Amino acid sequence: MTEEIHPGLAGVVADATAISAVNPETNSLLYRGYPVQELADTQPFEAVAWLLWNGELPTDEELAWLRANGRPFRPLAPEVRAAIDALPRDAHPMDEVRTAVSIIGADESAGEVLHETGPTREENVARSLRLFAALPAIVAYGQRRRHGLEPIAPDESLTYAQNFLWMTRGEVPDPVVVDAFNRSMILYAEHSFNASTFTARVIASTLSDLHSAVVGAIGALKGPLHGGANEMVMHTLDEIGTAENVGPWLDAALAEHRKIMGFGHRVYKHGDSRVPTMRAALGTLVEHFDRPDLLALYEALEREFVERKGIYPNLDFPSGPAYHLMGFDTPTFTPIFVAARVTGWTAHVLEQQAHNALIRPLAAYDGVPERHVQASTRAS
Ligand code: COA
Repeated sequence: MTEEIHPGLAGVVADATAISAVNPETNSLLYRGYPVQELADTQPFEAVAWLLWNGELPTDEELAWLRANGRPFRPLAPEVRAAIDALPRDAHPMDEVRTAVSIIGADESAGEVLHETGPTREENVARSLRLFAALPAIVAYGQRRRHGLEPIAPDESLTYAQNFLWMTRGEVPDPVVVDAFNRSMILYAEHSFNASTFTARVIASTLSDLHSAVVGAIGALKGPLHGGANEMVMHTLDEIGTAENVGPWLDAALAEHRKIMGFGHRVYKHGDSRVPTMRAALGTLVEHFDRPDLLALYEALEREFVERKGIYPNLDFPSGPAYHLMGFDTPTFTPIFVAARVTGWTAHVLEQQAHNALIRPLAAYDGVPERHVQASTRAS
């Protein structure tokens, strides 16, 4: 039998989803039918979380309910802090976040017996909301811990985006910064069957628990070919230093066949639909913080790389320097992506389990043909 092989599952339609649609031809990304740019322009991130889980934007009452029900989970739980503190101070923050979600999952499912139907959809929606509400404290504490600082208690009067920045920095920054952060969270929230979401769906398809699916997804997101690229973009910009260095730096990087992080995409080949919105937010931040040098470097790298390779920036390219200007340390960038994408991951876990089929592909064997252990090589 000759099997058709699809390395990297490129071009394979593995299942249907009603959560988001990516159309590289029209350069569009829809969440539950809404263009992501429209959502970024008009919604608080909490409303988009509700949309992804429930299929509709929340009414004012539903948004108030979501906020009220998330608030008790905003403080850093003592057992989560203890688990993070048990890790080396210089552990990668993605490892901290992965560990923290694991602890929360063990707490939430303590005493449960594995069951073929698992928790109800309602219980999984509640778990998704609690995890969504808890993640900013974990990410913020990770950054503070590396500076030897104590966690900051959440402020109940603040929105999700304001509170995230407050818990990281101890101040609510200018509305321009909050708005850029809120937009980035919406743009990062969901993207169909990307590697981490597919990982979450594979785990959910075994009827494992929601937190295990998220822990696996975090592992997939950490890699630089996926979410880790936003951190790598900042390392690249730091390495290049100034706009004038872009040409010689690119000559050397391309001669060494290096991948330039923040460029290219498995699905979009003519540009990433989310980039213009995030690029505009970056422009606002550059103006606010008076950093034309950073924008010049960003633009020079974009121009030169697109000219030479015809490969366009993805969302990680503008979001890296944007998070830098917002005051996040570079290793914190991908954990922020976790806090955003947890909404999409958990929506996919709910969808997978509502119409479950165990995800179990085949492989073409290309190892040695059948052989047998010889008497001389049998263990005595
Ligand atoms: N820098 C340099 N070359 C790149 C590139 C990049 N960022 N992205 C793609 N290419 C080149 C590859 O080297 C390859 O060239 P080749 O055919 O001469 O070997 C060709 O373009 C196809 O790339 P490939 O990696 O096979 O395509 P893919 O669809 O599997 O890749 C990514 C998608 C995202 C993995 C890839 O573009 C990449 O590694 N980008 C950098 C990491 C990144 O930004 N990730 C975040 C994605 S949202």
